[in-house]
Amino acid sequence: MKEYPKNFARFYDLIYHRIRDEADLEFFQNEAIRIKGKVLEIGVGTGRLFMNSLNHGVDIYGIDISDPMLNVLYDKLDRNEHYRVSLQDMTDFRFDFKFDLIVAPFRVIMHIPDKSDQLKAINNVYKHLNKNGKFIFDTFIPDLKSLINGLKDITDFQGEYEPGKMVRRIVSTTPDLLNQIIDVRFIMEWEENGKLEREDWSTPMRYFFRFELEHLVERSKFGKCKILGDYKGNELNKDSKEFIVVCQR
Ligand SMILES: C[S@@+](CC[C@H](N)C(=O)[O-])C[C@H]1O[C@@H](n2cnc3c(N)ncnc32)[C@H](O)[C@@H]1O
Repeated sequence: MKEYPKNFARFYDLIYHRIRDEADLEFFQNEAIRIKGKVLEIGVGTGRLFMNSLNHGVDIYGIDISDPMLNVLYDKLDRNEHYRVSLQDMTDFRFDFKFDLIVAPFRVIMHIPDKSDQLKAINNVYKHLNKNGKFIFDTFIPDLKSLINGLKDITDFQGEYEPGKMVRRIVSTTPDLLNQIIDVRFIMEWEENGKLEREDWSTPMRYFFRFELEHLVERSKFGKCKILGDYKGNELNKDSKEFIVVCQR
């Protein structure tokens, strides 16, 4: 996985508060606020969801492998709250206390291509949960047609990041069917100091099918899971766009 770069992190909140909050923020907020103990967000990023839980009084911690993403989050936090956030990898993170809820929201596990690393990550989560603690992660359900056709230079976001200053994001995808990977290329373009700046970044995303996810969890210490089909808590059905995997220790 290539680390989320500086300008992707810089514009992340502008883009995803607009195009993602409506889908998942309330779900993760409700899961977090009912917890009396500690909560961990893996792949916390810029704190899009984390800050909301923290502001609701949740005793939440966050880890991520991207410095640029975490720097955006540190800027939002009071200094005395910085201890909550650390640069750590899902596969080998460590805390000397345990959590009652661990979440890895918005496709974090899709950044781990290798199945032995995925298993290691899930078992590491298990180790850090209290008895009856819950682990929730999500992946998108592969849409076979768009997966195979790929996307070609689609502008999925355009807006102003400051009055009169435009930013736009252009996405392309290439499938690698053998390795179950979609290579996603993002081009970020923005106006700054009278020039059009540009950052070009590609990242592989490992997609999952339903029974692979079930097998993966069954091979882990959790042994079983429940897969929901949306953030309203509905069962999987033919219109589902998400796998929301819920595991209990
Ligand atoms: C799509 S972002 C989601 C950020 C945040 N959870 C949200 O919902 O806005 C995925 C995040 O996972 C992080 N990530 C990827 N692989 C990771 C790993 N192995 N361990 C921890 N974080 C990881 C990335 O750096 C990125 O910040």
